[in-house]
Amino acid sequence: MPPPLPIAFVAGRSGIWRIDRVCPVSGEGLPVADRLAVLEGSEALGPTEGSWILRGVTSNTRYANRLEVDALVASQEALLRPQATRAALIPIRKTETWWDLAQDERRAIFEEQSRHISIGLNYLPAIARRLHHSHELGEPFDFITWFEYAPEHAESFEEMVQQLRSTPEWRYIEREVDIRLSRDEPPG
Ligand code: HEM
Repeated sequence: MPPPLPIAFVAGRSGIWRIDRVCPVSGEGLPVADRLAVLEGSEALGPTEGSWILRGVTSNTRYANRLEVDALVASQEALLRPQATRAALIPIRKTETWWDLAQDERRAIFEEQSRHISIGLNYLPAIARRLHHSHELGEPFDFITWFEYAPEHAESFEEMVQQLRSTPEWRYIEREVDIRLSRDEPPG
């Protein structure tokens, strides 16, 4: 497991990603902006200006068991593959009821009842992902989820998101914003 990496998603006028749309799914949305920059490490910790900034940190796994971790490692791809010119940034806040549950109760909802990992695994390696934790940072969202895929996998990404949103886990989500982005394919 690599050490925790601080990340800042900065919406404004610069960054490689064009913001195509910002859709509130539950609760309050976020303002529309033109571009998104993804800052990592010390860059993410410095002072930054933007129309909005979401901060998070990569962390250890909480729910995945050994078999699931091995399956993820075997098929997950790195970020910024040249062909992966589409992205989704989906910040999520869960309810107080969720946070009041015990770890085993959360795992049961997350995987045994909702099959979050087994649904997600069906879409690897086409979709690359990184999960960022924000709950302990006092941020407005608990998680900032980030996904990258090629245009030909856009439909299967929608299918996967719809499946996840119909699971029992999503009853514990009180704020969710679906932000879609694209970028030009790098030359060469
Ligand atoms: C590419 C498909 C996906 C895969 C393989 C996947 C896999 C995972 C895994 C393994 C975890 C648990 C990490 C841990 O053990 O702590 C997780 C957590 C999470 N995922 Fe996904 N996921 C996928 C898609 C999505 C999508 C599309 C969303 C949002 C719409 C999402 C939202 C979340 C959230 C919010 C968490 C944190 C849950 C919590 O800790 O309460 N995932 N995902």
